[in-house]
Amino acid sequence: MDSSALTARKSIPDIVASADGGEAPLRKSLGPVSITAMGIGAIIGAGIFVLTGTAAAQYAGPALMLSFVLGGIACAFVGLCYAELAALIPVSGSSYTYTYATLGELAAWIIGWDLILEYAMGAATVAVGWSGYVGSLLGGFGLHLPPALTQATGTVVHLADGSEARALLNLPAALIVLALTALLVLGTRESSRLNNIMVAVKLAIVLAFILVGAAYVSPAHWQPFLPANTGEFGHFGWSGVLRGAGVVFFAFIGFDAISTAAQEAKSPQRDMPIGILASLAVCTLLYVLVAAVLTGLVPYAQLNVADPIAKGVDAMGLPWLSGLIKIGAIAGLTTVILVLLYGQSRIFLTISRDGLLPPVFSRIHPRRHTPWISQIAIGSIVALIAAVLPIGILGEMVSIGTLFAFVMVCGAVLYLRRHAPRMDRPFRAPGVPVVPVLGIGFSLLLMAGLPFDTWLRLVVWMAVGLVIYALYGRRHSLLRQEGRAAPGQPAE
Ligand code: ALA
Repeated sequence: MDSSALTARKSIPDIVASADGGEAPLRKSLGPVSITAMGIGAIIGAGIFVLTGTAAAQYAGPALMLSFVLGGIACAFVGLCYAELAALIPVSGSSYTYTYATLGELAAWIIGWDLILEYAMGAATVAVGWSGYVGSLLGGFGLHLPPALTQATGTVVHLADGSEARALLNLPAALIVLALTALLVLGTRESSRLNNIMVAVKLAIVLAFILVGAAYVSPAHWQPFLPANTGEFGHFGWSGVLRGAGVVFFAFIGFDAISTAAQEAKSPQRDMPIGILASLAVCTLLYVLVAAVLTGLVPYAQLNVADPIAKGVDAMGLPWLSGLIKIGAIAGLTTVILVLLYGQSRIFLTISRDGLLPPVFSRIHPRRHTPWISQIAIGSIVALIAAVLPIGILGEMVSIGTLFAFVMVCGAVLYLRRHAPRMDRPFRAPGVPVVPVLGIGFSLLLMAGLPFDTWLRLVVWMAVGLVIYALYGRRHSLLRQEGRAAPGQPAE
């Protein structure tokens, strides 16, 4: 690989100018409340509705509350860095674009490739969670879906006659991905009003769970608070809290999506950090409370199920609340899948316009105005992944991939402060270099808590990405073909 792959950078003024020019500029209509609502809308999903149970049962026990605190602290440091970059480079494309402007083309490609883990794999993860809640809701009406068609391929399932079999695929998970892909191809975009309604529904059910559930908690279930380590790293004890944080970190993903709205913020300087930090603070508080109530309702060892919140409600013995919570969870999970599938196609669009992916990924349908071929390709692959893989593996891949992107974003802030100190920063993260360094440190700490297999998968994934770059992106990069690369320093 020649060295220009490492040095080719876009200049920040170029990026901002090309985003503003051409088409009609985006309206600057979002204030801090809408941005916070958007953040909460993208954040609350399978992490809290599904992975909380797995993480409590397998890794942390009631101390999962501490895992959520740890995850929230890590995200706050990273969130400040996102806020600085989002205000400085207020265009969509998120960390891919920031990295292109700072650490260069190769690093940008690595992040773009890595973001597939966050968005596409994230959509698959949430789809599996969706399937679990749909199965549970239908089960409440006496309609039992065949277990062999609702679990990851190869999972051992118990049949009605008491025998055991291996599951074929998770059909509902694949179907919801395909249905939402069809919506996105047709151009149905969730309007901000629909989003606000969904956020309200999600918040309402989470609050109902906390408030009603608190009355039914048996404090005895919180003992022992920090179950003794089993002798294996990550299985209970403090290492279990760490691994639990790495797993439930998934629940925080989405606050970075706020950064993509920077162009539409009325006052990015003030609203971006408020939106990012307020949504993180609200979600961290809610998550800690949900973990407390859930582990107080059901002994943690019994929480390794597809619908732990529903199991918690069942323990209260309130069937009416159970149905409501399941419907709310399904609606909430649906919007998260939609946002992630949408985000993935827009990231591919930006990468493809830079020439690092084939032009087919930026082909827009003449009437629908959507990147339809890309959206269908993404939907098909995500549906397949959701059909065959279990949620645990998927969620951990998403967590490690996103944490890796966070490290790069904090690195970009440090880099720019050093190499472009005079640039006008509408929002300056406080305490630089301490805050980005802590962001990097906490992200690496959470990554360290994840299983070795997950690391191995990340390395293999990245190696595949590098091969694709070497074979395709390096040769087709528009920036380098046009000789517009700004090697060395980012232009101020
Ligand atoms: N944070 C999002 C969720 O938990 C991705 O579903």
